[in-house]
Amino acid sequence: MVMQGSLKPLGVLVSGYGSNLQAILDACAQGVVAGRVACVISSNARAFAGERAKNAGVPYYVLPNATPEERDAHITALLKKHDVQGVCLAGYMRLLTAGFVDTWWDRVFNIHPSLLPAFKGMNAQRQALSAGVKVTGCTVHFVRPAMDEGPIILQATTPVFADDTEDTLAQRLLPLEHRTYVQALKWYCDDRLRIQGERVFVIPAAEAKS
Ligand code: GRF
Repeated sequence: MVMQGSLKPLGVLVSGYGSNLQAILDACAQGVVAGRVACVISSNARAFAGERAKNAGVPYYVLPNATPEERDAHITALLKKHDVQGVCLAGYMRLLTAGFVDTWWDRVFNIHPSLLPAFKGMNAQRQALSAGVKVTGCTVHFVRPAMDEGPIILQATTPVFADDTEDTLAQRLLPLEHRTYVQALKWYCDDRLRIQGERVFVIPAAEAKS
């Protein structure tokens, strides 16, 4: 049995539907990830992600309207209040300030619905369709100040079919995103990730414990 105290406290930042948040909540509850969601913070008062947090009994906060600096200071205060050790961006639609990324360096994760460095930013699925790629996917990476940049932890792929629309592609990517995010967080919570420059290495489980 995993002791509560050995579980890494995670903070999850959301803005919308929260299916990645749900995957993280479930993986923690099932002991797949040795972490616990300590708080959920939303930039959007109407986000369905809020229902998910409340259903899971996790403290949930909606950010006030403020400047980016004030907003990120507020987030940092909440994360510290909950002793958070890892920050998961899960459909969080605001760009974080460089100061925030600096404070949480190598402890902030993002999921993006493309094979980075291709198709950064909004509407990654639309970008993939427009570019005519035959394979796309999702990426979990450590966050750096520039949008959708940072050392890549894990990627997963899916074919792009001739009759795909932005919506069918997004729907096929989501379950892939959930599995990929959970796997990356499992490694993080097991202390198995090492960053060297732009590269991330997953060390053997036996080495992480020693
Ligand atoms: C996902 O496609 C994620 O990759 C992107 O925003 C979407 C959020 O979905 N950053 P959800 O809110 O987790 O369901």
